Amino acid sequence: MGSGMLPSGAYVTYEHEYILIFRKGGKRVFKNNEKALRQESAFFWEERNQWFSDLWEFQGKSQKFKNIASGRERSAAYPFELAYRLINMYSMKGDTILDPFVGTGTSMFAAMCTGRNSYGVEIDPLLAETVTNNALLLKEQLNDIVVKRFQRHTEFIEQQLELGKDKWYENDHLNTKVKTRQETNIKLSIINDIFHEDEFVTVTHEDLNPKE
Ligand SMILES: C[S@@+](CC[C@H](N)C(=O)[O-])C[C@H]1O[C@@H](n2cnc3c(N)ncnc32)[C@H](O)[C@@H]1O
Repeated sequence: MGSGMLPSGAYVTYEHEYILIFRKGGKRVFKNNEKALRQESAFFWEERNQWFSDLWEFQGKSQKFKNIASGRERSAAYPFELAYRLINMYSMKGDTILDPFVGTGTSMFAAMCTGRNSYGVEIDPLLAETVTNNALLLKEQLNDIVVKRFQRHTEFIEQQLELGKDKWYENDHLNTKVKTRQETNIKLSIINDIFHEDEFVTVTHEDLNPKE
C-alpha cells in the first residue's frame, strides 16, 4: 500500500473487477419447444436477488496450477462461482458456451455442472490436454456443488417459514417450496457419467430427485 499504517503516501488498491455483459441483437426469442427447458433452467428467487445485484463477493481462486503441467507460474483462473452464476443467468440447459481463453477449464467445468454444452480454445497444448483429462474426474465434485445449492435453498425456505412468511408455491420436481411461480418447474441436473467419445468429453445428466 506504499506506506503501511502511516499517512500520507499510501494508494488505494483496485480490488474489484467488472463483468461486462453484451448482447448481440434484440432480446432472445424462445421457440415453443424451448419454453419448457427455459422454465427448468430458472434459478431460485433468493439466487436472483444475489446474482443480479451489482456486487459479488467471493474468494479468489488459488493461482497455483493443480494437477496441470504448464510453463507458466500463475494460472490466472477465476473462481468457479463466477462462471457458474453467469452461465445460469444467461443461458439455459442445452445451450452452448464458448470460452476462447480456456486456461484451467473453469467455465467448461461450470457448463458441465449446469447441463450446458461447451467449446474451449486454449493456445497452450499442455493446458488443453490436462483440462480434458481433469474433466473426466469431476463427477463427484460438480454434483456436490448442485447438492449444496439445493441445500442452501431448503435452508432459505426454513428460515423464511420461521419468520412466518406464508405465501409459497410448490416445486414438484424438487419436493420443496419456492417463492414465485416462475420457480415451480426448476429441475436441477446432476451428472450421471463423464466419458471420452471421439474427440469430445461427453457428459450425461439426470434430474436431482430429493424425494429418493
Ligand atoms: C486468464 S487465462 C484464463 C483462465 C481461465 N478463465 C480459468 O479460470 O482458468 C487466459 C488463457 O488464455 C490462453 N490464451 C492466450 N492467448 C490465446 C489465444 N490467442 N488463443 C487461445 N488461448 C489463448 C492462455 O494460455 C491462458 O491459459
